[in-house]
Amino acid sequence: MKVLLTGANGQLGRCLQDRAEQERVTFIATDRQELDITSETAVAELVLKEQPQLIINAAAYTAVDKAESEYETALAVNANGPVNLAKAAAVAGIPLLHVSTDYVFDGNGTEPYLPEQQTSPLGVYGETKWAGEKMVRQQLDKHVIVRTAWVVSEYGNNFAKTILRLGKERDELSVIADQYGCPTYAGDLADALLVVVKGISAGRQEWGTFHHCGDQPTSWHGFARAILAEAKTQGKIESMPKLYAIKTEDYPLPAPRPTYSVMDCNSMLSIWGVGPSNWRNSLKTIIAKL
Ligand SMILES: NC(=O)c1ccc[n+]([C@@H]2O[C@H](COP(=O)([O-])OP(=O)(O)OC[C@H]3O[C@@H](n4cnc5c(N)ncnc54)[C@H](OP(=O)(O)O)[C@@H]3O)[C@@H](O)[C@H]2O)c1
Repeated sequence: MKVLLTGANGQLGRCLQDRAEQERVTFIATDRQELDITSETAVAELVLKEQPQLIINAAAYTAVDKAESEYETALAVNANGPVNLAKAAAVAGIPLLHVSTDYVFDGNGTEPYLPEQQTSPLGVYGETKWAGEKMVRQQLDKHVIVRTAWVVSEYGNNFAKTILRLGKERDELSVIADQYGCPTYAGDLADALLVVVKGISAGRQEWGTFHHCGDQPTSWHGFARAILAEAKTQGKIESMPKLYAIKTEDYPLPAPRPTYSVMDCNSMLSIWGVGPSNWRNSLKTIIAKL
C-alpha cells in the first residue's frame, strides 16, 4: 500500500518507517522540509502528485510547555495541518489516520477515559490537538483517529532519554509522582497503526476515534524508576540514583497537565484487534538501543 507519511522524522514517523519493509508498506515519507502540513496548497499538490492510497499524520507540535506561548503555531500544526490533510484526502477519496493525545482530557476522572467521553483540555497543546480532531471528523468520513499517551522511543527527545541522561549525571533525582498515565513505545504505536492500515487495505471501514497506549498505568515517578532499573540491569548506568517523589506543585511548568490521563483501549482491541502494549517489555528494547 502506498502511504503518505507526514512528520516522518518524529518518534512515531521514524518507528513507522523502520517497519515499512516487513509490513509491505511504501511510505512517501515527508517531514516539515518536504511537506509543511500547515500549507493547504502544498498538501493538496503533493496528494495529487503522489496519489497515495492512505495518509498517516504523524506530524504535530508536541512541545507542551512552549505551546503555551506559541498558540498560533501550535494551532496551525495541530489543527490546520490535519484539516488540510483531511480536505486533500476527501478530494482523493482516501482515508486519513490521525494521531491525537490523552491531553484532550482534563484528568479529573478516576476511571480510564473512553474515546467518546467528554474532553476538556487544560493547555494549548491539548486544546489545539482537540481542535484538529474535531476538524478531521467534520471534513472526512474516512478517518481513524488514534489517541495515545506518554510516547517514548529511541528517537528524538523524550522522558526515557532525559531520565537516562540524568541517571548518568546525578546521584539524586526528583520526579512528579501525582500524575498518572500510560507510557507508550512509539514502535508499539507504529505496529498498532500498521494493523489499521492493513485492515483498511483489506477493505475494512471502521472509521472513528480509538485509544492506544501502554497497558499499566503509572506515575512519572514510577516510569522513571522503571527506566532507571532497566538501565541498571543493562549496565547503562553504574548505580541507581536516589529517586524522590515530588508533587506537581513542587515542579511548576508553564502548561498544566492532567492528573489522571489513563485511557480505555478496549474499542481498539474489539474493533481492530490491537490491545494496549506492554510498555515495560518495550522499555527493554528502547534502553538497549540508547
Ligand atoms: N510525544 C508524546 O509524548 C505524545 C503523547 C501523546 C500523543 N502524541 C501524539 O503522537 C503523535 C506523534 O508524536 P511524536 O512524539 O512522534 O512527535 P515528535 O517526535 O515531536 O514528531 C513530530 C514531527 O512533526 C514534525 N512537524 C512539526 N511541524 C510540522 C509541520 N508544520 N509540517 C510537517 N511536519 C511537522 C516535526 O518536525 P520538527 O522536528 O522539524 O519540528 C517532527 O518531526 C503526535 O500526533 C502527537 O501529538 C505524542
